[in-house]
Amino acid sequence: MDDSQSNLASALIEHLDIGVIILDAELRIQYWNEFISQCAGKALEHARQQPLIQIFPEADTPHLSKILAQARDHGLHVITQWRESSHLIHLPYMPSGQPAPSVLQSSLLFPFNDLNGQQCFALLLYDTSEFARSNEQLDAALKALSSKQIDQAQLIKKLETANTQLMQSEKLAAIGQLAAGVAHEINNPIGYVFSNLKTLASYVQDLLRIIDTVDTAASLDELRQLKRSLEYDYIRSDVEALINESEDGIDRVKKIITALKDFSHIEEEEFRLADLHRGLDTTLNVVNNELKYKAEVVKEYGEIPELECIPSQINQVMMNLLVNAAHAMDKFGRITLRSGHEVDWVWLEVEDTGKGIEPHLLNRIYEPFYTTKPVGKGTGLGLSLSYNIVQKHHGRIEVSSVLGKGTRFRIWLPVCQPLAVQLGGVAS
Ligand SMILES: Nc1ncnc2c1ncn2[C@@H]1O[C@H](COP(=O)(O)OP(=O)(O)O)[C@@H](O)[C@H]1O
Ligand SMILES: [Mg+2]
Repeated sequence: MDDSQSNLASALIEHLDIGVIILDAELRIQYWNEFISQCAGKALEHARQQPLIQIFPEADTPHLSKILAQARDHGLHVITQWRESSHLIHLPYMPSGQPAPSVLQSSLLFPFNDLNGQQCFALLLYDTSEFARSNEQLDAALKALSSKQIDQAQLIKKLETANTQLMQSEKLAAIGQLAAGVAHEINNPIGYVFSNLKTLASYVQDLLRIIDTVDTAASLDELRQLKRSLEYDYIRSDVEALINESEDGIDRVKKIITALKDFSHIEEEEFRLADLHRGLDTTLNVVNNELKYKAEVVKEYGEIPELECIPSQINQVMMNLLVNAAHAMDKFGRITLRSGHEVDWVWLEVEDTGKGIEPHLLNRIYEPFYTTKPVGKGTGLGLSLSYNIVQKHHGRIEVSSVLGKGTRFRIWLPVCQPLAVQLGGVAS
């Protein structure tokens, strides 16, 4: 380095906003820059050749000795952060202004050799409070963020619970609405089975009379006479018809009860393999009363494999679609139920010949509480919950509608659920 370069370097050091102190091998002060003079309020001339600790008695001596030893013995660069209470050397760091409220002092100590090969130490002191402050701010912001995230997670949990409750109550409401129809449906067969039983009882009375007369009759003619007068031949043919009809009636009641039982498994949450056609038939049995005065139901089932689903929930979706189809009928119409299968996907379709949906309302029908039906008839939850259920099954719903002609809903469901759902076994 020539003289002019040395001069430049010295001038630069005098203008730095960093404290520079040079110590000799015995840790006596050789030099410090203008910044130290300014901040410490001490003159370099009085400090030259004095031990550092003598000039700055407030320095944390044990710690200082340690870092000096590290720098000297291992030739290391030692960086230290000094908190406000234990600055290596007290410097206000703002020569012209107010001292900063909280100050973090950093020091860098390292050994070097001077031009004569003598070992010296450089001690650089600088203010890193700004850096520390922004770190603190960053920390605080991160903390706030993570607490917000916790809040959000809790909110999502609450929403999920509310959603589940909504689903259960919509299902209960739907079952409630259907209950009247189901009662009617059961009442009819029970009515004729009961009246058949009465007729059968009176027939049995007559038959017993004929048999009892076998013991007391004076002649075979008397017995024949009685048989004729009690219309035995008619009884004989009618008994069979009555029993057959009653069996049918009881069968019908049994079917409805089984369907209701299948259908109201509201606590069922497990994905399992299920036959969707069976589920559809169950659902049809439950809603039959709602449908039969509104439309003829046509089944056009295709070939479909068993599918991984929560069957009671898929039944609920199909029930919503069927009931909606029935509600859409202005006059007696037709509801067509179709199913099909494409590679890994199965679809179920409900098509009606009802009044249709206006195109601009098609994107509103899945909104919770959106209904065009009078109070008591519609909750506006059927399609929104159906949408949720289909989503939970990783499927999708499609709708197409022509005003005045009818509407077709099709749900697509994957045959297999993603691995996570299978492993969990339980829907999330
Ligand atoms: N098959 C359909 N034909 C015509 N409109 C329908 C049909 N399905 C649904 N909609 C419309 O979508 C709305 C929302 O349906 P949904 O969510 O099941 O609630 P809700 O049946 O209780 O009204 C219905 O009120 C109706 O206006
Ligand atoms: Mg509905």
